Amino acid sequence: MEFHDREKELKRLMRIAEFEPHTIYFIFGPINSGKTALIQEFIRRLPEDFAVFYVNLRGKFITDYHDFVRMLFRFESGRLEEILKGIVKSSTKFLSMKGIPVPEDVIDLIFTKKRTEDVFEFLEEYISRVARDKRLILILDELQVIKDIRIDGMLIYKLFNFFIRLTKELHLCHVFCLTSDILFVERIYNTAMLHGRADYIIVDDFNFETTKEFLRKYGFSDDEISLEILWR
Ligand SMILES: Nc1ncnc2c1ncn2[C@@H]1O[C@H](COP(=O)(O)OP(=O)(O)OP(=O)(O)O)[C@@H](O)[C@H]1O
Ligand SMILES: [Mg+2]
Repeated sequence: MEFHDREKELKRLMRIAEFEPHTIYFIFGPINSGKTALIQEFIRRLPEDFAVFYVNLRGKFITDYHDFVRMLFRFESGRLEEILKGIVKSSTKFLSMKGIPVPEDVIDLIFTKKRTEDVFEFLEEYISRVARDKRLILILDELQVIKDIRIDGMLIYKLFNFFIRLTKELHLCHVFCLTSDILFVERIYNTAMLHGRADYIIVDDFNFETTKEFLRKYGFSDDEISLEILWR
């Protein structure tokens, strides 16, 4: 199905992407409201000097730190240097749907060192290398999957401190977090002390007029449309 409307939200996202990263963005709205579809359309519209890392945690069974790290990365053959060069040289947006590409030995190294800090240090270095040549965006979809994970302290707290570093401190990379769990967002705000360091974009269900327009486009008659909307 063709993407419909959301021009206001897309415009806001594009404006954010144009500027230097300085804030973490939450994108939230009810289940099925179109958050994932919106971010996919946004990625499609980005100019070619962007590189996007998109990680979707939906349906992933994450119980501990190892599961989480495995989700962030994906194996790619070749040495780290070559992988980084590949990202930088690529004229198309590096649209990675399955995590951040690293060679197998890097994953091994990360798993043998148990400290979270090691992973974030590695990622910071990785991201700063790519950021020399590309404008970067990191997207975590279905963030609530990791809401109850504890490692040495709360994972969420450490993760968001890392995001603050990427945005407000180093201005290296845009960070977008998608979730339908508003209570969870509130909790992150408080535990990770995000006041003044994060902002949000609401993706609400389409309103009456937009729904009507959408249904018309797909060939529904006005009678059918009023029925359809009545039933919602
Ligand atoms: N603007 C749009 N135009 C056309 N189709 C859309 C649009 N937004 C969403 N959809 C469709 O509606 C369905 C739900 O959208 P999507 O999966 O993006 O919602 P979501 O908010 O990410 O849901 P969840 O909370 O489950 O993650 C999908 O099939 C998607 O393709
Ligand atoms: Mg979604």
